[in-house]
Amino acid sequence: MSQRTATATPSGLGPSAAEQLARQRMHRPKRVDRITDLVGNTPLVRLHHIEQDCPGVELWAKCEFTNPGGSVKDRPALRMISDALAKGLLQGKRLIDSTSGNTGIAYSMVGAALGIPVTLVMPQNVSAPRKQVTSAYGTELVFSDPMEGSDGAIVLARQMVEAAPDEWFYPNQYANENNPLAHYHGTAVEIWQQTHGRVTHFVTGIGTSGTVVGTSRRLHELGAEVGRHVQCIAMQPDDAMHGLEGLKHLPSSLVPAIYDAGVLDDTVWMPTDEGWDMTDRLADAEGLFVGHSSGGNVAAALRIAKQLAARGETGVIVTVLCDRGDRYFVPLEWEKRYVW
Ligand SMILES: Cc1ncc(COP(=O)(O)O)c(C=O)c1O
Repeated sequence: MSQRTATATPSGLGPSAAEQLARQRMHRPKRVDRITDLVGNTPLVRLHHIEQDCPGVELWAKCEFTNPGGSVKDRPALRMISDALAKGLLQGKRLIDSTSGNTGIAYSMVGAALGIPVTLVMPQNVSAPRKQVTSAYGTELVFSDPMEGSDGAIVLARQMVEAAPDEWFYPNQYANENNPLAHYHGTAVEIWQQTHGRVTHFVTGIGTSGTVVGTSRRLHELGAEVGRHVQCIAMQPDDAMHGLEGLKHLPSSLVPAIYDAGVLDDTVWMPTDEGWDMTDRLADAEGLFVGHSSGGNVAAALRIAKQLAARGETGVIVTVLCDRGDRYFVPLEWEKRYVW
C-alpha cells in the first residue's frame, strides 16, 4: 500500500478536514427518538481469519446488516424519503416503487416509522417471504405478470405513476442522486473515521451502484486531502446468469443513471461459486452469517489482499456486508396467535 504520507497540511495551517475527521470517534446512540435514527453508523469488523494468508494486509467489513431494516439499502431509502419530505414531494401521496428486495424492505420500514404509505410492485411469483416481510410493515403489494419478471414490475409501476401522477411519489433509486449521496455523507465518512484515515482500498458490488459510487467519490476526496489515493474498486458478477442476489452484471443490464465509472479505479469480476464459497467461510470462520453479495464482496477483497501480499505490500482493505444470511431462508408463517 501507499503508506499514509501526510500528517499535516504543508502550509502549516493545521490539520485538514480529512485529518480531523479521522481523529473523531464514531458513536452509536444508545437511545433514539425513532427507529430511523438507527440507520447508519454501522460497526466495522476485522476479518482476522480470512486475512491470515495475507501478512501485512488488514481486511475489514462494514456491518450493514445491523441497520434496522437489515441491509445497506436503509441508507438510500431514508435519504430519498427525507429529501422528498423536505421538498414537499410526498404531500398527500403514496410512495411507489418496483422492488421486492432489500430496498422494498427499507422503504417499508422507513415508511412505517415516518407515517408514509408505501406501495410496492413486484412480479406475482416472487417468493412468499418477500411478500410477507414487506406486508408485515403495512405495505400495499401490487403484482405484475410473472412472465415479465422484474422489468414487468418496473413497467407497471411507471404506468401507474403516468396514469395518476398526483397520487404517487416514485423515488427511482437507479437515477436518484440521494442514493449515492447517502453513502457519500455516511458510509465513506464512517469508514474514514473507523480506520483513522488508514483505508487504502475500498471494494464492493454493484446493484444500483449507489454504494460503490457514493463511497468511492468521498473516499477519493478524503484521501486527496492528505495526499493519498484510496483505490476504489467495483465488483460485478462475471456472468449475466449469476447467483449473487442483489448484484448486477452491467454488460448485460440497463446501466443505472447514477453509475459513474469515473470514480472507479478497477472492477473485479466474480464467479457465483467463489462468492458462495466465501459466504460459507464467513459464517464458519468469522461467525458472520451474511448474504451472497457480501460473500462476493469479501472474496473480491481477499483477491486484492493476496495481490498486495504477493508484492510484499501492506494495506487496509474495506468492504461491505450488505445483509444477513437469514434473509434468504423461508421465515415462519406469519400468524397472529401463538401455537404452544
Ligand atoms: C443484497 C444486496 N447486496 C448488494 C446490493 C448493492 O447495493 P447498491 O444498490 O448500492 O449498488 C444490493 C442492492 O439492492 C443488495 O440488495
